[in-house]
Amino acid sequence: MGIKKLVNKIVRSAFNVVLGSKLSQKSVIVRGGKYALEASYIDEEEMALARLSAAEGCVLLKNKDNVLPLNPDEEIAVFGRCQYDYFYVGYGSGGDVNPPYRVNIIDGLNNAEVLYNKKLAEKYYQLVNDKNYVADEGFWGHWPMSHPEIPLDEQVVIDAAQTSKKAVVIIGRAAGEDRENTTTQGSYYLTDEERALMLQVSNYFDDVIVILNIGNIIDMSFFAEYENKISAILISWQGGMESGNAVCDVLYGKVNPCGKLADTIAKAYFDYPSSLNFGNLEYNNYEEGIFVGYRYFEKYAKNDVLYPFGFGLSYSEFKIELIKFEAMFGFYSATIKVTNEGKYPGKEVLQMYCSQPDGRLPKAERVLTDFEKTDIIEPGQSEIIVVNTNNQYIASYDEEQSAFILEKGNYKFFVNDVEVGEYFTDEEIIVDQCEKALTKDVDLKSRILERMPEEPDDEFIKSLSDKELEALTRGQGMMNSKLGVAGNAGAFGGVIKSLRDKGIRPIICADGPAGLRLSRYCALLACGTALACTFDKELVESLYAKVGNEMVNWGVDVFLGPGMNIHRNPLCGRNFEYFSEDPVLSGKMAAAVVKGIQSSGKAACPKHFACNNQEVNRNHNDSRLSERTLREIYLRNFEICVREGRPKTIMTSYNKINGVWAHYNYDLATTVLRKQWGFSGVVVTDWWMRRAFSPEFPLLEDNAYRVRAQVDVLMPGDMSRVATKYKSDGSLLKTLGQEGGIKKAELYRTASNVIRLLERLS
Ligand code: BGC
Repeated sequence: MGIKKLVNKIVRSAFNVVLGSKLSQKSVIVRGGKYALEASYIDEEEMALARLSAAEGCVLLKNKDNVLPLNPDEEIAVFGRCQYDYFYVGYGSGGDVNPPYRVNIIDGLNNAEVLYNKKLAEKYYQLVNDKNYVADEGFWGHWPMSHPEIPLDEQVVIDAAQTSKKAVVIIGRAAGEDRENTTTQGSYYLTDEERALMLQVSNYFDDVIVILNIGNIIDMSFFAEYENKISAILISWQGGMESGNAVCDVLYGKVNPCGKLADTIAKAYFDYPSSLNFGNLEYNNYEEGIFVGYRYFEKYAKNDVLYPFGFGLSYSEFKIELIKFEAMFGFYSATIKVTNEGKYPGKEVLQMYCSQPDGRLPKAERVLTDFEKTDIIEPGQSEIIVVNTNNQYIASYDEEQSAFILEKGNYKFFVNDVEVGEYFTDEEIIVDQCEKALTKDVDLKSRILERMPEEPDDEFIKSLSDKELEALTRGQGMMNSKLGVAGNAGAFGGVIKSLRDKGIRPIICADGPAGLRLSRYCALLACGTALACTFDKELVESLYAKVGNEMVNWGVDVFLGPGMNIHRNPLCGRNFEYFSEDPVLSGKMAAAVVKGIQSSGKAACPKHFACNNQEVNRNHNDSRLSERTLREIYLRNFEICVREGRPKTIMTSYNKINGVWAHYNYDLATTVLRKQWGFSGVVVTDWWMRRAFSPEFPLLEDNAYRVRAQVDVLMPGDMSRVATKYKSDGSLLKTLGQEGGIKKAELYRTASNVIRLLERLS
């Protein structure tokens, strides 16, 4: 079948699915609604994967007396305006996808053909469309963190309880890029209206099921306080365009809940160790060091935890038995038999932890080293699964030796709560010799001078003019470049005619990570945190392989995702895009996204490298942290992603790291990323950068300072932010040929990186 025919077929089937499912009007409104339906390329498998991953990312925190799964023939009453005004994703570049449809909770119930209280749903429909209550979608950086809950007359609740047995209450939250959560009602805290609604509903219903439609962890003290009034709590996160279907799959047991928390839920905000050093304008000291998330709580504050990292209930119970443990040459593997001892078919997650011995370096109680997920296991049946890890994952970073080491002692391994084996060493072992980097006590100037690149042998590269070499270090100048599909995030590579004449084509970028952000209908996927909660690398990889297909269809070369910074604090506005508080879960999930995207021959662009842990003043903020903390937590996730996923590009962050902006950071982009981790792709800036002179080489400013760091490409490319076509700012070439100026070999180096990328793109 020709590609056009194939596309038409897929589009038609997508169209049928859209029309086939019963969508309430609130759902079909597509932002802008301006693209022809032909402008879609989402196949049914992608829809199914989007739905499955959104469902498997849901985390069931409580299920008193097995109130869930619900019985389809038993009427439920749904409360809360988010049944229509659902948050499908967070805000900003990472969520701004134009999906062809969005399934809200009421649509999901209709599609599932289950009984629900229609009178109440109609009442809500009127209310959310009432001009006094209609949801305000805000604008860039001023999006709503929640929609004010609509008070109900007592009689409405009483009437609903006449026919409905169980109540479902939905609470929604969102945050985003440039839009931090705050410790206020309607953001981190419940509003008085939400609390009132829940209490009102619990007065008339014996069973109240709470659904948390959130992108960040919120305060859950209310649920602890009113424990007896709430039967079940399900975090459904922000599940993308298939949200309503996915939630109903879980509520009615089509999908047995199998998501696990990617973050610790503490009792109170100030229990999080970063809370005293978060949100400052100028800098944040990462005083908690490596003790982020469960690493902190398990060691120092066990009693402050409401729901631990890795927790999540199922409708079944699973037994974990060790079959075999092997420790050989620095590799550790546990063969596990998982038996479904419950009544429902379901999947279980195996989390492998290591508890390291105490020594010179303080250690967490245990660290995640790997995870696997079973297939669906039928009741009474078992599956054998192997989980394995190696010394890299159980080592600690020793600043004195600039190396990852195993201190002597006993290393104990656990799968979930079962101890599965141990490894003893009576001497210290160096696992990975690194070199000191990203701290003030490195002589950066000498390091850079000693490692100046040689001029290449490549005749083609050497035939490029200075103007062409310069053009290869910057994007075309603006977002939505005319060189690519509408709505793209910019182009680099062949941005001037003479480069194109020489066969160097433009390389087109588009956001992510929750799907392609284009002026076209593209699949809107579950947010990163939800995907992390699936603990399913294969599922995430297959999902993003579909996004890779969309890229091929639209001529997009670089997907600006995954977003993968560590959830250092629950208020970070972009946590929804990112995966977890744990670097191994984040790194492996990111690697899965990269592999999926790149299976299409295109490029993924993990971001934001590194330490973008807050949105407040993100362009100026300095993340100050120890070398060990960097290596074990904030670089570790990227290291795993780079080593296992092999991304072809990577994006630096806006912030400074120990005083140096990521986009000027030689140690980050060259010493660690390329020299140590073997990255051979293109490093791009986050969109635009700060102007600065190099402290080590005072003649170099802006683009010259950046290119020396081997941050290859400034995106989208023009510092004036108004350019409609490529224009040089002169800062790169100004010092070329001067003593202390930028060297031709450095320009050749970036040109080779970009051209090599082109060769690796299909
Ligand atoms: C964001 C990036 C995004 C880029 C392009 C920046 O503001 O931080 O994550 O990829 O814009 O939209």
